[in-house]
Parts: sequence; structure tokens; C-alpha cells
Amino acid sequence: EEQNRELRERLEQLKKERNAIILAHYYQRDEIQEVADFRGDSFLLAQKAAQTDAEVIVFCGVHFMGESAKILAPNKTVIIPDERAGCPMADMVHVDGLRKLKAQHPNAKVVTYINSSADIKAETDICCTSSNAVKVIESLDAEEIIWVPDKNLGHYVQQKTGREMIIWEGYCNTHDMLTVKDVVEMKAQYPNAQFVVHPECRPEVVAMGDFVGSTTAILEYCRDSECTEFIVGTEDGTGYQLRKDSPHKSFHFATKYLVCPNMKVNNLKKLVKCLENMAPQIYVPPHVAEQARLSLERMLQVK
Ligand code: 13P
Ligand code: SF4
Repeated sequence: EEQNRELRERLEQLKKERNAIILAHYYQRDEIQEVADFRGDSFLLAQKAAQTDAEVIVFCGVHFMGESAKILAPNKTVIIPDERAGCPMADMVHVDGLRKLKAQHPNAKVVTYINSSADIKAETDICCTSSNAVKVIESLDAEEIIWVPDKNLGHYVQQKTGREMIIWEGYCNTHDMLTVKDVVEMKAQYPNAQFVVHPECRPEVVAMGDFVGSTTAILEYCRDSECTEFIVGTEDGTGYQLRKDSPHKSFHFATKYLVCPNMKVNNLKKLVKCLENMAPQIYVPPHVAEQARLSLERMLQVK
């Protein structure tokens, strides 16, 4: 605790010196969320990165999030606590494979979940996050839609919008681990609780949800709901904001495995160190960034 206090003081000092803003995803460790200037889901963080006046963005999340921030704010320096914090789902689609699929469907529009690399975004018509995926699909006037890389979110959006999509076979290792059996057991244990679930979970698990939504949607739902007990079907880091918003409500995570190891690679010590060293920095080749930016900006314009 004493060490953390010193780290937090050092961080405050560095933040001023560097004119930096600290952005943190809701799946980050509590010790990072506590010191963040802004916490958010993928969408809110991308929006914040595009709007901030700070010179330096310290992005606490996984690699694609830092990359998206750099693409949206090319004149800023974007640093991250640890380069090894990647997203396995983002690595499940590569440019060659996507180009092949595009060649087979030349009239299709490509919709890419923001959990993807800059290279993939550069091959994309429009990006989306879990909080605006339905709106993005509804905004499209296209005969065919290619959807990468999350099959679970793709399935959910397809069902919500009634639009046929060509869906890539990627998934989130963390959310995809939650099974119907897990949820059945939890519901038996907590019969008065509502089950809130992220659409990155399997379709049959999502179907059991009393509420289905992105990380922010789940937070808002639990905060505003009259219900006081929830079974939570998303990443464990959301506990920080859930408990902060509603200290008197109970939150039971649906399994102890709902922890994204990649998100937890970052910690307070590494956060301070990256601001001290101004490294690791995110670099995106300008020709890739330019193409990728269009797909992200189109997303930000969807109302
Ligand atoms: P959201 O932040 O859009 O809810 O996405 C969840 C996620 O898995 C981020 O990596
Ligand atoms: Fe990727 Fe899933 Fe971790 Fe999000 S929670 S960073 S989608 S592995």
C-alpha cells in the first residue's frame, strides 16, 4: 500500500510534466482504474482519444485500443504500459484471409469489430464496437455484409437486425468460456438475481440473458435497475465500476474464469514506468493509419 501511494504520487507528477491523460478500459485492474482520468468501454475510449487536448495518451487496455487511439489522434504520442497486452480475438483474422473473402464477395461491405489490428481496419468500410454494432449495421445500405472477427457478436447482431451476414470464425477466449451449465448453476444458487451478459458470449448463453449489452450498457443497466442482485456475464474488471455505482447491490460473476489475462498484463507499476520512459509507444505506418482512420471515423459518425 505504501508502495502504491508513492507510485500514485509519482504518476500525478509525471502526468502534469508530460501533459498526459490516462485512459483505462473497464477490464483493467482496480489499481489502474483508480488512477485513470477516464474509464470507458471500447467505444467511449476511442471517442475520448479522438477528442482529448492532452499531448500524450496513456492507453491502459489491450494493443488494438492503443492503436485505434493513435489512428484517431495521429499527432499525439500514445504510450501503453506493456506491449504484450494483446487481444487474441484481434489476432484471429489476417489481411490475406480477409482479402480472399472480399474477392469472393466483391459487392460486400466489410464491418469490423474494433477488436482488430490496424491492417484489418485499413481493409474495412466501417468499424463498430459492441455498443454500436446494431446501429452500424442498420446504417448500411449494402447487399452483402462481411463481418470480422467475432462470430458471437456477429450472431447477436444478425439476430437483432435480421440482416444476413458473412461471419468470420473469431471469438473472445474469455467471454466464450462461459457455458449454459455455468449460468444454470448460478441461477439456481441466486434465484432472485438477474443475469446480465455481454454479446461476446456464446449465442446460447446470450439467449439466457435478462439483459444483453456492451460493457457500458451492462453498467448502466445495473446502476439504474430496481433489481439489487446480478449474475454478471462479462469480464471481472467491471466489478470496480459496478460496485462504485451501486455499493449496496450484489454482483456475482458467472464464473471465476471471466478474467481476461491480456487486460491484466498491465499494472500500476508499469503504468508509471511507461510515462517515465515515454515507452512503449504505438506506431502505425502512415499509409495504414490513413486507410484505417476512415473506417473508425465512419463509426464515430453513426448516430
Ligand atoms: P466493449 O468495451 O465494447 O464492451 O468490448 C469488450 C471487450 O472485450 C473489449 O476488449
Ligand atoms: Fe480480447 Fe476478450 Fe480480452 Fe476483450 S476480453 S481484450 S475481446 S480477449
